[in-house]
Amino acid sequence: NTGGTDEAKRRAGEAAAAEVEDGAVVGLGTGSTAAHAIRALGERDAEIEGVATSFQSRQLAIEAGIPLTSLEEASVDVAIDGADQVADGDLVKGGGAAHAREKYVDASADRFLVVADPSKEVDALDYPVPVEVLPDAHPVVAERVRDLGGDPELRAAERKDGPVVTDNGNLVVDCAFGEIEAPRALAASLSEIPGVVEHGLFVGLADAVYVGTDDGVRVTEP
Ligand code: A5P
Repeated sequence: NTGGTDEAKRRAGEAAAAEVEDGAVVGLGTGSTAAHAIRALGERDAEIEGVATSFQSRQLAIEAGIPLTSLEEASVDVAIDGADQVADGDLVKGGGAAHAREKYVDASADRFLVVADPSKEVDALDYPVPVEVLPDAHPVVAERVRDLGGDPELRAAERKDGPVVTDNGNLVVDCAFGEIEAPRALAASLSEIPGVVEHGLFVGLADAVYVGTDDGVRVTEP
């Protein structure tokens, strides 16, 4: 996402990273805002361990010198992750196709801190909801999304002929619903569709939202 300024993203990421206590197991989110938090954690030498949510965050953690662990070996104390849109602490994620791993890592954390710039804040979510699907299920998932009033579009890769393939080997269907009046109900309906691996509506999961501005950081606890 290129909507907000990098300076605002950096402030948000660094402020959330400053909340992490020494020795913590940290869920490492995906995207340009979470990347600032990962770099800040690496610079701090805080004896933390990271659980990556994507290929990208794993690479960034290695570059930053953060040792990695897994959910089989550790439980996550705090997760720091970005969002494509935020409304009252509810999120749409998955603009980078990483939302499936992000969701179970973020949801398992004792505290889930969202980092964002002001361009992500809205009164009501209306960002197309990314839905990760098993590859051969995309036509039937699309049909069910239309039944729910959505407009599904298989995400195309930018520098490859064909679709985006996720870190898990699946496809992504972006589902536009216009303004989402009842995010929790839509989240439940999407989860019920056979062939859906995970969708990008994160409802009631965030413990705090850090929004970087041009001169500071605004923290809200939904
Ligand atoms: C990854 O799939 C997404 O959920 C990201 O967390 C989201 O797109 C935020 O990315 P930026 O911080 O780059 O906007």
